[in-house]
Amino acid sequence: MQTIPGSLKLMALALALASTAAGAESVRLQTKNLALEFEVGEGGRLYQRALGVRTKQERLQRTDEAYPQAGDGYVWEPALQVVHADGNTSTALVYDGVQRKQEAQDRELVRIKLRDPAYAFEAALCFRVHRDRDVLEQWTEIRHHEPGVVALERMASTSLLLLPANVELTHFYGDWANEMNPVRERLTPGTKVLDSKLGVRAHQFRNPSFLLSLDGPASETAGRVLAGSLAWSGSFQCAFDHLGERVRVLCGVNPFASAYHLEPETTFSTPVMIWVWSSAGFGEMSRKLHAWARDFGFRDGHEPRTVLLNNWEATGFDFDFNRIAGLFEPAKQLGVELFLLDDGWFGNNYPRVDDWAGLGDWEPNRKRLPQGLAPLAAEATKRGLRFGIWLEPEMVNPQSELFENHPDWVIRQPKRELELQRNQLALDLTRPEVQEFEWKVIQDVLGVADVSYAKWDCNRYLTQPGSSWLAPERQSHLWIDYVRALYALMDRTAKAFPKTELMLCSGGGGRADYGALKYFHEFWPSDNTDPVRRVAMQWDYSYFFPAMTLAAHVTHWGKRPMHFACAVAMSARFGMDLDLAKLSAEDKSVCAGAISAYKRIRDVTHLGDLYRLERPHHAPRGALNFVSPDRSRAVLFVFQLKEGEPLPVRPEGLDPARRYAVRELNPAPGRAALPQEGKAITGADLMRDGLIPSCAKAVEACVVELGPEP
Ligand code: GLA
Repeated sequence: MQTIPGSLKLMALALALASTAAGAESVRLQTKNLALEFEVGEGGRLYQRALGVRTKQERLQRTDEAYPQAGDGYVWEPALQVVHADGNTSTALVYDGVQRKQEAQDRELVRIKLRDPAYAFEAALCFRVHRDRDVLEQWTEIRHHEPGVVALERMASTSLLLLPANVELTHFYGDWANEMNPVRERLTPGTKVLDSKLGVRAHQFRNPSFLLSLDGPASETAGRVLAGSLAWSGSFQCAFDHLGERVRVLCGVNPFASAYHLEPETTFSTPVMIWVWSSAGFGEMSRKLHAWARDFGFRDGHEPRTVLLNNWEATGFDFDFNRIAGLFEPAKQLGVELFLLDDGWFGNNYPRVDDWAGLGDWEPNRKRLPQGLAPLAAEATKRGLRFGIWLEPEMVNPQSELFENHPDWVIRQPKRELELQRNQLALDLTRPEVQEFEWKVIQDVLGVADVSYAKWDCNRYLTQPGSSWLAPERQSHLWIDYVRALYALMDRTAKAFPKTELMLCSGGGGRADYGALKYFHEFWPSDNTDPVRRVAMQWDYSYFFPAMTLAAHVTHWGKRPMHFACAVAMSARFGMDLDLAKLSAEDKSVCAGAISAYKRIRDVTHLGDLYRLERPHHAPRGALNFVSPDRSRAVLFVFQLKEGEPLPVRPEGLDPARRYAVRELNPAPGRAALPQEGKAITGADLMRDGLIPSCAKAVEACVVELGPEP
């Protein structure tokens, strides 16, 4: 055999590399203000040009891989980690072409195909590019034709690269009744992990949504920012791998104890990651995300929501037909449109009179509701109210007929003492009989004539993740298969009851994510309804979720003045959870005023654009305003949290040339009118000079409509 001298070998290699570089294939995803570029490099590997880079760097390195795989050279946090059918723990994917499909005028589906030349194994990096919205939906599809099962040990939805110069991360932590506390920090070398291991919900301690600003601290109006929100209601992981010269953002199902054994010829689709870009700060980013969400993220996003009355804080578990029916007339008189019957309406052998018993036995309690739900719902209809019902289909109390009959239906670990949360257990939704049982419960309850609203609750998370349905070697599938079965059930519900409005609740805000929200209309952000806490919490949720999805009920939590509590709830999806008959005459009139004001402005607050004006955290007040899509109307909210100077508050987003009539809505009794009350002022003047609000003392609020001149 002829040998090639060393120098010639080097020359040949150099030529080969040059031709790869010169003819390098690339894939470009382009929205209005964001370009995401992938490039095929040495050996056919796919690389990403870091997001937000202004000048192209020339040399591609392993740290630039688009979707790095473990086991063949990549030594940092991988996006994909696989055990192949023959036991090989390495994967090496090469570029295998791109498919592009124009789904709508400004929407394209792009699938970048990758394959492992040594294995019948492939992955597709999928993007739905919403060009004009600056939104990318991203997920990964994994498939193989190997002669046996392949174990997926890590399978990120996304693995985006940023330049690390000065990246700031904002994430949100909390606990029950204290969800969504923001933390802002600069990313430094090392891996920062945000995750949850709760199984049936994503959130309680951490939300799967975060903000990144690329040039240090951004503001509402300035800075290049990227928001990420993982559409997944189970255990998740977001890892920010700062490698010195790059930051890789990995997000997806939590790899923790979740190896998934993929059969040949089946496709594993990861949850969708939603990315939103703005070059003009957090405000514009949120407005883009909200507009996307109204069209794609939740149901009926263009229909303003009604005024709801819930009986939970008023009656708790202690009610019967007459007590509930007695709430209807005062509600109607005040202007309420929808009544929601909460927990406690079911269970006979084990009546649901507290949270110890009855969960799982969904027949109406014969003592409380002798004729079932239908007459109560009919009574509400007769009084001109819609009727809604509380449900927790996934759960069971040990003290129930359901548990007595099917002790094997619950999620638990054999040989371990049962660990209850709120005295209850989760049913194993991977089991087909459980799926059918829950579906029947939903059909029976939502099928009752006159029921047009439901609150779907989930009051525990998994702490002993064992399934008697899944095989011993497939226990790790529980985390993923549970959520998939849940989505199938939610999808079935949304399709079978297209006119029924659905609220998502999970022991407070445990299911505040776009995975489940797709099948719902709104979610319950927190059991904490103290309006002072809600001002900041609703602000933080509003980075990602539009006001119409944030259920906000007026209650006595925190014992705040009724006027303040109403103003805070009116800035989101308004409801009340009060015994209206027990209110003082003054509070009743404040509530009636708030309800009629809400009806007047809800098309603006629900369908319009949000401008966060003054951040309420550690500040004397918070302020925000909404502007209708045609900019003819706006609503300004000022929440005074501490005594402060009556400084002007400046609305944003108005049409500078238009004149707006200033009118305070539902003014607090006994307070002086706004200095500008009744005047018509141009948008330019309002935005420059602002308005002096009528509130200056702690827990006072002011809601101002800026409307067309009379
Ligand atoms: C959860 C919800 C509450 C209420 C109760 C009923 O705690 O967050 O709003 O529905 O369950 O048991």
